[in-house]
Amino acid sequence: MRIDIITVLPELLESPFSHSIMKRAQEKGLLEVLTHNLRDHTPYKQGQVDDYQFGGGAGMVMMPEPLAILIELLQKDRKYDEVIYMTPDGPLFSQKAANTLSLKENIMIICGHYKGIDERIREHYVTMEISIGDYVLSGGELAAAVVVDAIGRLLPGVLNDETSALFDSFQDGMLAPPVYTRPADFRGWKIPDVLLCGDPKVISEWRHEQSLKRTEERRPGLLEE
Ligand code: ADE
Repeated sequence: MRIDIITVLPELLESPFSHSIMKRAQEKGLLEVLTHNLRDHTPYKQGQVDDYQFGGGAGMVMMPEPLAILIELLQKDRKYDEVIYMTPDGPLFSQKAANTLSLKENIMIICGHYKGIDERIREHYVTMEISIGDYVLSGGELAAAVVVDAIGRLLPGVLNDETSALFDSFQDGMLAPPVYTRPADFRGWKIPDVLLCGDPKVISEWRHEQSLKRTEERRPGLLEE
């Protein structure tokens, strides 16, 4: 999968994909993440990419022309399955959306700043909008990093234990059960006996019960969905 990210702060996106699972995914050739600095493509002087909003009001808006130029430049080389705009007024991101996106080949992500991007870009180029939560970040980069990470780890061959993503929280609409590692007795705090019983079926049933209990207690809405 190839992901092209349009940003005014490419530096902000260096670290999130340079470590651990995302690094491995790229080294294995399963994921390619490229950042494109919008300022390198603006026809305006001094790298200008934003301007005052028509009608007045505080906050700058990202101009349509630099975005259109860069989007069209990228579209010349490949067909994008989705052109995603990261925005707090988009539909909320979910595991389901991550699953769907992980099946795509080419994705473009636009990171907004200031008051956002000119609405005409949303109307004419953007095919999908994503919010990562009901709060406003100072830009779309951190949100884009969240989305790319959630998608990247789902690509076949990225995780060592191929089955482990299947048991994540939300993957079956429930939260994950509690997990324990050695020692079995830490400062007198013991792990549940059932985990030492050696019967995979019994352990699997216990985990399912725990998932259900946790979901009922913490996120009952998930069960209704
Ligand atoms: N940009 C600013 N806030 C955001 C959010 N919550 N989700 C996605 N993009 C954003």
